[in-house]
Amino acid sequence: MEINIRKAIKADLESIAACHLMCFPKSLGSKLGKKFMMDALRPYLVDENKCIFIAHENNICIGYISCKLRDGSLGSASVMIQSGFKQGIRSFISKPWLLFHPEMMNKLSLVLKNISRKILNTETEKTIIYDNVPTVGLPGVCVSPAYQGKGLAKQLIHAAEVEAILMGYEKLRLTVSKQNLPAIRAYEYAHFVIVAENKDSYKMEKYI
Ligand SMILES: CC(C)(COP(=O)(O)OP(=O)(O)OC[C@H]1O[C@@H](n2cnc3c(N)ncnc32)[C@H](O)[C@@H]1OP(=O)(O)O)[C@@H](O)C(=O)NCCC(=O)NCCS
Repeated sequence: MEINIRKAIKADLESIAACHLMCFPKSLGSKLGKKFMMDALRPYLVDENKCIFIAHENNICIGYISCKLRDGSLGSASVMIQSGFKQGIRSFISKPWLLFHPEMMNKLSLVLKNISRKILNTETEKTIIYDNVPTVGLPGVCVSPAYQGKGLAKQLIHAAEVEAILMGYEKLRLTVSKQNLPAIRAYEYAHFVIVAENKDSYKMEKYI
């Protein structure tokens, strides 16, 4: 069967969420379930400043890259928390042990900030001061395990890059865990370079 890359549409949402669960089986988002991931990823198929490209086989998503203009709007993790909020609560009620998931511990301040945003109904803008040129963020890249190592990440990054260039953007930026060596290799292979680091992750960028 032929594998193709294209921009995702709303009808792809369930397939993208299913792919996410296969690629990140241990992540908190996946543990919260496919419905949560569908809600969390929906803004990427709806909002004008976001998009997703998928690698698909007969319209079944086998890998995707999410893109978000770094335009001062809510950060990618907050977008997902806000959008998946209601389903997230339902999932936590049915699986309360997930409150002790390591990601919950690591992102507690972000989660609390988003709970207060939700309750107070405030959508605080944040000013991005460190992007010296118009930048597209790539918050999620993944390829289904059975299809890894076949160059799909490379093709997905290329699709995002072409779109960013057409929109007049000059730089791509992403965050990757220091322990995720295959991903770091894939990004270096696509000519990303490490520009900053914190305890657990690297920030990588590529001028386009
Ligand atoms: C990281 C990931 C997206 C790479 O996707 P992929 O389609 O397998 O990558 P590609 O086949 O395009 O590989 C590009 C380059 O990356 C490197 N690479 C990819 N997978 C690798 C692996 N498992 N081990 C070592 N290097 C690897 C190779 O150098 C490859 O170059 P090559 O073509 O010369 O072999 C994929 O492994 C994945 O989805 N992982 C789980 C989800 C994840 O961690 N996403 C990243 C979050 S930041």
